[in-house]
Amino acid sequence: MFSSHKKKAITVTVLTGFVAVTILAFVQPQPKVLKNIKAFPANVTFKEVDEAMDQFKEDLGVKCVYCHAPSKENNRKLDMASDANPKKEITRQMMRMTDEMNKKYISTLPHADTAKIQLVTCNTCHRGSAKPVFKEVK
Ligand code: HEC
Ligand code: HEC
Repeated sequence: MFSSHKKKAITVTVLTGFVAVTILAFVQPQPKVLKNIKAFPANVTFKEVDEAMDQFKEDLGVKCVYCHAPSKENNRKLDMASDANPKKEITRQMMRMTDEMNKKYISTLPHADTAKIQLVTCNTCHRGSAKPVFKEVK
């Protein structure tokens, strides 16, 4: 049989493992739920939405609050699922428009001189501003 020394070591190892599993169960982030998705594909993941949001921010040169309304419970926080901010619906329209341009036109172009298709993105038009800049010929 095990010596008492060895038994102690095994008990400690088992306990440590048990504690680690318990801690992990608490620390592990809960999967974040999406509540109000209308423009992204239905099977989009939270991570994909999160990354797209960072891209919108960058391409339009705005913060999250530009499109998202404050929470009713705590106006220092944003309610991402709310549609109270009209910029959100405009953005959905922009997403559908960009998608259609790519599906209908860009992806059907014969690419004679480049190997890789460059799709239209928000940045193609916006270039860091919420309203694309109009340049008048003087
Ligand atoms: C240019 C506008 C715009 C900006 C800027 C923006 N969002 Fe969004 N966000 C949207 C739109 C539009 C949707 C809904 C997409 C849809 O219906 O498929 C959305 C949805 C979301 C959702 C999903 C909410 C749900 O449960 O349905 C989260 C989370 C979110 N945004 C977080 C952010 C964060 C964080 C930022 C800042 C880093 C941000 N957004 C910046 C337009 C924007
Ligand atoms: C083909 C060019 C083009 C593309 C691509 C495009 N936009 Fe736009 N967007 C415009 C134009 C032009 C306007 C200004 C319309 C107006 O005057 O109301 C605009 C307006 C907007 C507005 C409203 C700005 C305001 O101040 O009211 C938002 C928000 C927006 N776009 C988000 C996006 C996002 C997000 C994407 C990518 C999914 C995108 N756009 C892709 C051309 C484009």
